[in-house]
Amino acid sequence: NWTMERFLEDKISEIQETVRDNRAILGLSGGVDSSVAAVLVHRAIGDRLTNIFVDHGLLRLSEALEVPEVFRDKLGLNLDVVHAKERFLRKLKGVTDPEEKRKIIGEEFIRVFEKEAKRVGGEFLVQGTIYSDVIESAASGKETAKIKSHHNVGGLPEKMNLKIIEPLRNLFKDEVRKLGELLGIPYEILYRHPFPGPGLGIRIIGEITEEKLQILKEADSIFIQVLKEKGWYERTWQAFAVLLSSKSVGVVGDERAYDYVIALRAVNSVEGMTADWSKIPHEILDEVSRRICNSVKGAGRVVYDITSKPPATIEWE
Ligand code: XMP
Repeated sequence: NWTMERFLEDKISEIQETVRDNRAILGLSGGVDSSVAAVLVHRAIGDRLTNIFVDHGLLRLSEALEVPEVFRDKLGLNLDVVHAKERFLRKLKGVTDPEEKRKIIGEEFIRVFEKEAKRVGGEFLVQGTIYSDVIESAASGKETAKIKSHHNVGGLPEKMNLKIIEPLRNLFKDEVRKLGELLGIPYEILYRHPFPGPGLGIRIIGEITEEKLQILKEADSIFIQVLKEKGWYERTWQAFAVLLSSKSVGVVGDERAYDYVIALRAVNSVEGMTADWSKIPHEILDEVSRRICNSVKGAGRVVYDITSKPPATIEWE
């Protein structure tokens, strides 16, 4: 009979037989799927798996530090961090169209990753594809009108001439999490809200600048922190802050201020296809708003998004 322990043992042998004494590379985002795939393959072939973590500068506050801390220092993975913020921001300068941003981020990611793959060498590319991705990509072939180009920046083209290993292909999300627990991956990684590949790039409406990134990171971190403190993080499927392109007038002391507007978004959903806005208690929203306005320089007003999907999408761009 099928158990997760058996599955793990069988997968490890299978990966060892496939890779033999060759090498593999994996793009680690810190999301659930790539994390579990990375630790699983590391169990099988150790340091012959090189994990590449691309910091494109569009990550949440502290994320660029946390990922190496957890995966390299705690879990012992062979992890290389690529600091590519400058490069991404340069390409994104002046770009305001959401699809254009997605395209640039996706393409740039592939370029960075390809270069790393060449440097590392090896025959195999590990991907954290799970069962729902397999279903989705089979279905999207028939799709006529696409709302958003949902390329996950973890997805890489075949032209890299690497053989693909997808050890999680047959697992549902909850099974991937169970496997992750068995592999000793911290709870905070396994039960984290989903985060889009283009990251904060699509949560800053309009042009992305360093200043806006800093404001958004701080506001987002406060929102998530308060939700965690109040026991609401687990009660929302996804929650985040968005930085709007318009500024708004306010008063700070007895001076007129003209600062950015932060929109808070929190939804309940099963797979992100439809979503209801979360009925977070007003007291909690009040606290988030106060903390953001008091401590985030450049943020002057906070609004809460009360639109479900449909008609709105979860992300603003
Ligand atoms: P929407 O905004 O389409 O989002 O209702 C549904 C889910 O998908 C995520 N999302 C993305 N994920 N690349 C990704 O990897 C993208 O370009 C992208 N756009 C949206 C979104 O965060 C939500 O979980």
